[in-house]
Amino acid sequence: MRISDGRHYIDGSWVPGAATAPVTEKATGAEIGTYALGDAADVDRAVAAAVRAQPAWAALLGEERAAVLRRAAAILERRADEFEEMLMRETGGVRGKARGEINAAIGKFLESASLARRAGGDLLPAFKPGKLILNQRVPLGVVAAIIPWNFPIVLALRPLGPALALGNTVVLKPAELTPIAGGQLLVEVLEEAGAPPGVINLVTGDGPDAGEPLAAHPDVAMIHFTGSTEIGRLMARIAARDFKRTSLELGGDNALVVLDDADVEAAASCGAWASFEFQGQTCITAGRHIVHESVADAYTDALVAKARALTVGDPFDAGVRLGPMISEGQRDRVDDLVARSVKMGARLVEGGTHDGLFYRPAVVTGVTPDMPLFTEETFGPVAAITVVSSEEEALELTNRCPALVNSVYTGDLMRGLAFAERVRSGMVHVNDAMGRPTGEEDIDEFTQRRWIGIQRAPLTWEVSS
Ligand code: NAI
Ligand code: MG
Repeated sequence: MRISDGRHYIDGSWVPGAATAPVTEKATGAEIGTYALGDAADVDRAVAAAVRAQPAWAALLGEERAAVLRRAAAILERRADEFEEMLMRETGGVRGKARGEINAAIGKFLESASLARRAGGDLLPAFKPGKLILNQRVPLGVVAAIIPWNFPIVLALRPLGPALALGNTVVLKPAELTPIAGGQLLVEVLEEAGAPPGVINLVTGDGPDAGEPLAAHPDVAMIHFTGSTEIGRLMARIAARDFKRTSLELGGDNALVVLDDADVEAAASCGAWASFEFQGQTCITAGRHIVHESVADAYTDALVAKARALTVGDPFDAGVRLGPMISEGQRDRVDDLVARSVKMGARLVEGGTHDGLFYRPAVVTGVTPDMPLFTEETFGPVAAITVVSSEEEALELTNRCPALVNSVYTGDLMRGLAFAERVRSGMVHVNDAMGRPTGEEDIDEFTQRRWIGIQRAPLTWEVSS
């Protein structure tokens, strides 16, 4: 395996950073590489390269850009074992999570390649005799992609795949906790696939020193950011200064509702998965379990049994389902949310202890809507249970917090549909949780319209009297 050695990738060259910092394996703390601590000067060089490369990249046939992305998919498939191992070390996720991410990334490369062939424009109705009106679809220019640490490859590809397919060039800024798999290795794949110099650039480093100058750079046309709501707000403010396009994929305080007629065993298995998968560190994690009183005891018992059965440890050890949390900061944040809720009267009935970054999955009961576990995104392996006495109450509590995706468990699918139609999140699952499709909307997101009116025979003009 090639070990990250602290370089940016700018204009087709691997350039050493002026300063570097270590990348650690999350389960062991061992140093597995270094990354360059980029600054505004690195960002300037990367954006300039992306600006220079963009017109020629956009002028290629869509099929030629698609071919680069298809080759990248094949290279990622060939190198899947190496990527899987690095993802496990760098994120602390287990093999199944890493494998799932790589498969999703291969799919995203291929789906993006197909966009290059499908993104056409329109011919609009004429409003004057002899006029031909083209409504073309053109790239935005340079896209800044700022990525978090939880799914470093697939979340990088969400902007990168469609942006490149549609004729944009990209400067990628991965998270400082995971700069290798979704930064250096991913860029190596695109380099080998034949992306011309400047089309994809990598600047590693921390948020304020590397991410912020990138977002603020006047030659960046779009900020694509995935991460915390707080930094998302900052990105929106920065974008407003120059009216940049933004795509902000932020957090949510997602609910899983269990109605009185639900299959409790199935709901609890889904609840455990949705709260504990990858240590609860995903944007679609179920942070709130809103459960009808008639099934609350059975649901809690089933969830506790499932939490207890999960082995926490080094993801490379056999039988381990939950690896370490990503950082001490994230662990302490989760600890604090639990402690403050317990102080307000919640009961920690399972887990919630830790050994270093290894956190036992927790079940907390008696959570009321005023407690931090209810009002804040937990982003850790904690299932917080709130008991309700009616479907109306469940709906009202679900809608009290902003969420990306909510779920409802019921034995009656029409009841589930009716409930889902009154839930305010953009995504709702009935008898399932998590998961999210992407696709067609990428074409609108990573292009803009250019309207061209062609007058076939020149008109004679007179100023109105
Ligand atoms: P973060 O939002 O600070 O980091 C995400 C990315 O933004 C990283 O690449 C980081 O370097 C960059 N960044 C940070 N500050 C920046 C700035 N001033 N300008 C430009 N870029 C900047 O997230 P963090 O600190 O890792 O996690 C904090 C919380 O965010 C978590 O507890 C969780 O609630 C949420 N989160 C949500 C994610 C999601 O998938 N929606 C992913 C990661 C975190
Ligand atoms: Mg942060």
